[in-house]
This record gives sequence, structure tokens and C-alpha cells, in this order.
Amino acid sequence: MGKPILEVEELTFKYDKRLEEETLSAVSFTVNKGEWLAIIGDNGSGKSTLAKLLVGLLEPQKGRICIAGTELTDDSKWEVRRHIGLVFQNPDNQFIGTTVQDDVAFGLENVNMSYEEMVPRVNEALRMVEMSAFCEHDPSRLSGGQKQRVAIAGILALKPSIIVLDESLVMLDPKSRRELLSTLNQLKHKESLTIISITHDMNEAAVSDRIMMMKSGRVLKSGPPAQIFIEEQQLEPPFVERLKRELENKGKEVPKAYTTEEEMVKWLCKSCLMV
Ligand SMILES: Nc1ncnc2c1ncn2[C@@H]1O[C@H](COP(=O)(O)OP(=O)(O)OP(=O)(O)O)[C@@H](O)[C@H]1O
Ligand SMILES: [Mg+2]
Repeated sequence: MGKPILEVEELTFKYDKRLEEETLSAVSFTVNKGEWLAIIGDNGSGKSTLAKLLVGLLEPQKGRICIAGTELTDDSKWEVRRHIGLVFQNPDNQFIGTTVQDDVAFGLENVNMSYEEMVPRVNEALRMVEMSAFCEHDPSRLSGGQKQRVAIAGILALKPSIIVLDESLVMLDPKSRRELLSTLNQLKHKESLTIISITHDMNEAAVSDRIMMMKSGRVLKSGPPAQIFIEEQQLEPPFVERLKRELENKGKEVPKAYTTEEEMVKWLCKSCLMV
């Protein structure tokens, strides 16, 4: 794992300056290059606000954001934005192109990419989200999950160093979600893509390197998924963790560390053989 690609220091923000209560209060954290950070927290805890600040759509009242060594300011905004892409919570009204492929190409046209370079980029991005068959379709007529996939393709085509996914997989069916998580994981390993996924889905949070928990505009804690799921018993943990708790309740000894489904299957097969 590399050095920090994102540094957030004492970030403070409120939508209405007249109000005393801050939407975000002194939020500080760093994310390393090639790291996958999941951000979790209750509705209204400030996750989407943080995402918008990270890409320069909102301006902080206090604190600073550094992306790839450059501080995000009014002047640097356009340059810094090349490094970071945000997929919004709601894919509706995000579409500009009249076809899916035009829409994915839009961001590339904005950076003046040549047509020859653009075509393979668009095709590759649509392939990654399994939407190649829809390239000529009207994006406004797609299903919710298909719209989300096209929105993700639009960001992936730009090849950002950091991708921020704000609940971008919620409308995906379970199989598509698993496949997309696996594609993201491959990009993380092959291209050192840094991923920030904001999610209420603990299975999605479980595949991250680190979970950051937010509460009322503050960072409550952060740590590896194993630690967070063990410490925060009120979270609805992924299936494997629930299975382990049930086995423990029945008096069985189970692995203490966080285990993936695959590891758990191996462990169960081994312990069955020992009975
Ligand atoms: N445009 C806005 N103007 C004023 N207040 C806003 C605006 N957007 C969000 N808020 C308020 O800021 C707070 C944080 O909202 P935010 O959308 O960041 O939460 P969130 O953690 O993303 O929640 P969720 O899990 O529901 O998506 C909430 O109290 C919300 O009402
Ligand atoms: Mg939100």
C-alpha cells in the first residue's frame, strides 16, 4: 500500500452559515493510494456532504483537502478534479448524452480526448460494468440499476486515481453487485485505483481495507472490517459474521478474526472432517 493520495484535515462545513450546528465538524482522515475505504454511518451523518466536498462541489468553511499532493482550492479545482471522480447517490438527471456511449464519452470530450483514444476507453468502461449491449440505448430509458452502471462507466472511463461511490451499487441486483465489486477490486490491484465507497451495505463495507464510521458529522472511528464488526455489535454484519455468532451461541469455537465466505467454507469443511 502506497502513500496518502487523499489527506483531509479538520474539515468543517455547514449548509446554512447562520445555523450553529455544523454538518461536518473537524473531519480528518487520510487514504493511501490503492486503498479501499468504506464510509458508513446513519442517514444524515454527513457522508454525501463529505463526498461533494472531496470533489470540490461544495467549499469547506474550515480545514483542507489535499489530493495527490495538491490542495483543493478554487484555483486548483479543475486540475485536482482530474484525479477524483464521484458517482452520485441518485443516477437520475445525471445523463447528458442521447445514447449510453455518448454519455460515457461526455467526460472524455470535456478533457479534449481524441476520437481514436476515446472509442476504446468508452468500450472498455462499458464492458467493465457489463453494459456494452446497451451502447446505442437512450440512457433515460434504462432501469435504475442500469443507470447506475452507466454512471459508474462514465467515471471509470476517465481513469481517475480515486473513485468515490456514494451508495452507487444499491440498485444493482446481487450478482451484478458482486461482479462490480470484484471488477473494482481488480482495478485496485492492477491500477492502484483508490476507492472510497459510501454504503449502508455491510457486505460492501466488508470487502474494503478499512471502514470509517461517521456519526453526526464526525468521524466516530475507523479500522479494518474485522475490528469494526466485532466492536460495533449493533451493525448488521455480513452473513459470515452472523453465522459465526450463531455457531458461538451453540458453544462452537469459531475463528476470531474476520473471515470471508470462502475462508469460512474452508474452515467449516476442515472442522467437519475433525468431528
Ligand atoms: N443541500 C442541502 N441543504 C441543506 N441541508 C442539507 C443539504 N444536503 C444535506 N443537508 C443536511 O446535511 C446533513 C447531512 O446530509 P448528507 O446528505 O451528507 O447525509 P448522508 O450521511 O449522506 O445521509 P444518507 O445516508 O441518508 O445518504 C443532513 O442533516 C441533511 O439534512
Ligand atoms: Mg448520502
